[in-house]
Amino acid sequence: MNNPVKFLCAPLEGITGFPFRQTHHKMFPGVERYYTPFLVANQTMKFKNKEMRDVLPENNAGVPTVPQILTNRADQFVHAVLQMQELGYTEVNLNLGCPMPMQVTKKRGAGFLADQDALDRFFEECIRKLEDTGLHLVENCAVENQPAAQSGASGQIFSGDNIGDTIRISVKTRIGLQDASEADGLMKIFNRYPISLIIIHARRGIDRYKGVPDLETFGRMQAQSTHPVCYNGDLFTVEDINDFRNRFPETGMLMIGRGLLQNPALIREAAGGLSLQKEELRAYLVQLYEAYHSVISGDMNVMYKMKELWVYAGKRFMGADRYLKQIRKAKTVEAYEAAVDGVFREGVFCAGGDHMT
Ligand SMILES: Cc1cc2nc3c(=O)[nH]c(=O)nc-3n(C[C@H](O)[C@H](O)[C@H](O)COP(=O)(O)O)c2cc1C
Repeated sequence: MNNPVKFLCAPLEGITGFPFRQTHHKMFPGVERYYTPFLVANQTMKFKNKEMRDVLPENNAGVPTVPQILTNRADQFVHAVLQMQELGYTEVNLNLGCPMPMQVTKKRGAGFLADQDALDRFFEECIRKLEDTGLHLVENCAVENQPAAQSGASGQIFSGDNIGDTIRISVKTRIGLQDASEADGLMKIFNRYPISLIIIHARRGIDRYKGVPDLETFGRMQAQSTHPVCYNGDLFTVEDINDFRNRFPETGMLMIGRGLLQNPALIREAAGGLSLQKEELRAYLVQLYEAYHSVISGDMNVMYKMKELWVYAGKRFMGADRYLKQIRKAKTVEAYEAAVDGVFREGVFCAGGDHMT
């Protein structure tokens, strides 16, 4: 086939926190980097405890992780980058894609894309401020020590010596907020600054997750980009991946979110490996359940986390609708576990997976 491609795991707020990343990485190696759900940088210059916990080196030991920041203020972003760099991270990602009204109305996430002058000023100020600190901004997207502390399981090995004076700033963007014609202006802005990677979720902000990705606009953005580009959007099956790669053989990185929730072995399968086995999925969900138990207090809270995952993992089963509904409706852990048993006992496992509907 084409050149080798690297796979990145997309951030999904509420789902791909560190217990997910650890469990997935252990059982299904092959993801080049996991991007964290966004941490909101605001005027307090302090992240919430829950956000900090997700990026603490000890919670990400051995897992290649990139923190993602949501803000439209240069001082807040720079502060966050320095904080992440101190924790040992060598790449920090800026969220320019969140389509939720709460963020869009504050001109954050995809909302920031609509004000290109402000976005341009934001990057200008960020880069200047970061360079003023003596940091060198690296423009390629190679993966090295992510973060410095991750080589040690204890997570406490990082010292001043391990932390370099370099940082990569990557962005995760959509093709525009309202209209795909915004894409050209956005690429001009990105091209002006030392950005290490442009991850493009090929939808407009107003699309949220509906409709199909706009591959034509993606192709145009990729052709215009002076930076490495990663494609993101609706890669659910090996066939989707192969179709995409046949159309865009030059794209070196693919980011996958919901496809990996639906089929945690998707990357292995795309590389020609064994397709996901029913018992393997079961073992994975059990491990994830345990991982959540060790960090979330209360059985019910753990159950709610698992329910979110089942929205995606349930797509692998045919003839299990009754049990999947029971999972959705479960009000006790016992009811949840009985329903999960039912899915595995009676559901017919489809190896290929399916598109989200
Ligand atoms: C529930 C949910 C939460 C998400 N949270 C984030 C987030 O925190 N940061 C972000 O950049 N994108 C977020 N996304 C978008 C995904 O990272 C990804 O861009 C999108 O799902 C398209 O990729 P996919 O088709 O491979 O899932 C979220 C998507 C969903 C469905």
